[in-house]
Amino acid sequence: MDGQEQKERGIWGSKIAFILAATGSAIGLGNIWRFPTTASQNGGAVFVLVYILAVVFIGFTVMLAELTIGRHTQKNPVGAFNYIKPSSPWKLIGYMGIITGVGILSYYSVVAGWAIGYLVKTGSGAFKGEITGQITSRIFTEFSSDPLQVLIYLMVILGITTYIISRGVRKGIERWTKVLMPILFLLIIFLAIRALTLPHAGEGLSFYLKPDFSKFSGKVVLFALGQAFFSLSLGMGTIITYGSYLSKSDNLVTSAGWVSFADTLIALLAGLIIFPTLAFSGQPGDVGGVGLVFEIFPIIFSQIPGGYIFGILFFALLIVAALTSTISLLEVPVAYFVDERNWPRQKAAIVIGSLAFFVGVPSALSWGGMEFFTKINVFSIFDTIFGNIALAVGALFICLFLGYAWGAKKAIQEIFSGNPRFRIRPLWTFSVKFLTPIAIIIILIFIKTIVSG
Ligand code: PHE
Repeated sequence: MDGQEQKERGIWGSKIAFILAATGSAIGLGNIWRFPTTASQNGGAVFVLVYILAVVFIGFTVMLAELTIGRHTQKNPVGAFNYIKPSSPWKLIGYMGIITGVGILSYYSVVAGWAIGYLVKTGSGAFKGEITGQITSRIFTEFSSDPLQVLIYLMVILGITTYIISRGVRKGIERWTKVLMPILFLLIIFLAIRALTLPHAGEGLSFYLKPDFSKFSGKVVLFALGQAFFSLSLGMGTIITYGSYLSKSDNLVTSAGWVSFADTLIALLAGLIIFPTLAFSGQPGDVGGVGLVFEIFPIIFSQIPGGYIFGILFFALLIVAALTSTISLLEVPVAYFVDERNWPRQKAAIVIGSLAFFVGVPSALSWGGMEFFTKINVFSIFDTIFGNIALAVGALFICLFLGYAWGAKKAIQEIFSGNPRFRIRPLWTFSVKFLTPIAIIIILIFIKTIVSG
């Protein structure tokens, strides 16, 4: 590849390639690790219910907004806002997205690194024999507090991510997603079926799916909304960036619908594995700490003939799912430096990939690796600030920008290209201009009470 080619913007090889890449960005640790953990900590079924509402009414709205901005401008987030409203402060949303991207990438890669550790552990037979919740929780604590291992794995994940991104959009992203995502999907279905047929599965299921409305609170709404943005990769310009590689004949509405649907399906299925298995291992639904998934999956593998192979396959695919998300996180800042600052792609990838590593070190050492970071719990602070609040603020401004600065009418013209009818446009316009901004503003106003309460 010569330098000229490297600097060119990629285009998706086909419509399906975009769908797969955007779905790959959306589906990741957010679905399999963060969703069950957050549901567990926020009352189970009530959270799930609010989450689904948040995806349908708010997540989908923002997804379509980002795709529209992206395809219209064919640019990275900073360039996109600048293109529609030249020399206005709106481009600050783009800059915020870039910072948020590095922030999320840094701690997200820590968890992705844990998945490598678990692949190695599973492969070397750490989970052979009778596996209980006590054993898995001891193994997780020992592993996540070992500074050397977590840092090496963090570096490996970011190294692979940097490598893929430096080779450009089409060649890098497409190749990974096409084959492996469907396999992950089938494996998850299979594991869900096994989990649902374990003894006591019903108890876990009722925590997960039978809402106890006394557990409803502002905190549930905040975390459900934040999780919806996180899981759908919204609020920081990832979908603007991916949408910028779309062609004018693509249907943005069905694309947004498909990505939102597939992402939610995987999250819900992950819950169907975690909660029944938790109940099977004799634990209540609300114990979910950050290690929940790593403590639960080995238990279910021990209940399947050939579980050793399934375990290896699962962690390998989890790593791939995480990688299709980390590359989308890194793509946002890299697209900015390539488009706006004329950096070669490779340089941008290496500089920002390394930056994410250094920023990620405190999060990696927040689980016992170093007392200082553990006490402050840098990981959780990053997750709350970047993974929840910054995405919600970003989504708010994206809607305000589209609804008022650019104008919903002009955006709708863009959507018409590829979807000349766009039947749900009154609903969508209402949500972009009113429903979504108001919901986010209310949540942000009460954030202090919510977080401290
Ligand atoms: N959506 C990804 C996941 O669920 C994480 C992500 C967030 C990716 C924001 C890009 C932007 O794993």
